[in-house]
Amino acid sequence: MEDLSLHILDIVENSLNAGASNVSIKIVEDDENFIVTIVDNGKGMDEETLKNIFDPFFTTKNARNFGFGIPLFAQTAEQCGGRLDIKSKVGFGTEVSVYLKKNHIDMLPIGDLGLTIITLIISNPEVNYQLIYKNGNYIYELDTAELKSGIDSITEAQTLHFIRNHINDGIKSTQNQR
Ligand SMILES: Nc1ncnc2c1ncn2[C@@H]1O[C@H](COP(=O)(O)OP(=O)(O)OP(=O)(O)O)[C@@H](O)[C@H]1O
Ligand SMILES: [Mg+2]
Repeated sequence: MEDLSLHILDIVENSLNAGASNVSIKIVEDDENFIVTIVDNGKGMDEETLKNIFDPFFTTKNARNFGFGIPLFAQTAEQCGGRLDIKSKVGFGTEVSVYLKKNHIDMLPIGDLGLTIITLIISNPEVNYQLIYKNGNYIYELDTAELKSGIDSITEAQTLHFIRNHINDGIKSTQNQR
């Protein structure tokens, strides 16, 4: 994977597949660490799924084929001196936390997080997404539930264009202020 925003897209797609109506994406950055936490209120995972989630080739008798989203992000995290943790409860939801060492030689760039978020909005506009980006003492926040209350349609091209730039500029400004 070439950047973190594509990994984040994969993890949130899992949340959408699990029927989540709310997904929060929190990124906390300091001088050394880059921590991504994605929380959803989807259907959650049972013990068996959780046990095998890091094995991309796990297959049950019923030929259920597991995918690559989680193992790939876990691999990226480990390559950057970090790890990926999952907590999940059937009927409640899932929390995926990814810890990366941001000065590691293999650390990936964040990429176009604004594009990732509008891609998610386009694919599931009824879902509410919260983005929190904390860099030292500076915070950027966006909540699509709040945005929706002030506009006719969140999927209008101009709105999406605005959201994408708002996110990418917002993140950049937290980095410049440090
Ligand atoms: N947020 C989640 N809520 C509920 N189940 C999840 C969640 N994330 C992952 N899972 C379960 O773990 C499995 C593995 O996820 P993973 O992203 O690694 O692969 P995939 O989504 O099946 O395929 P791919 O990501 O390659 O398209 C999923 O198929 C799903 O059963
Ligand atoms: Mg997946």
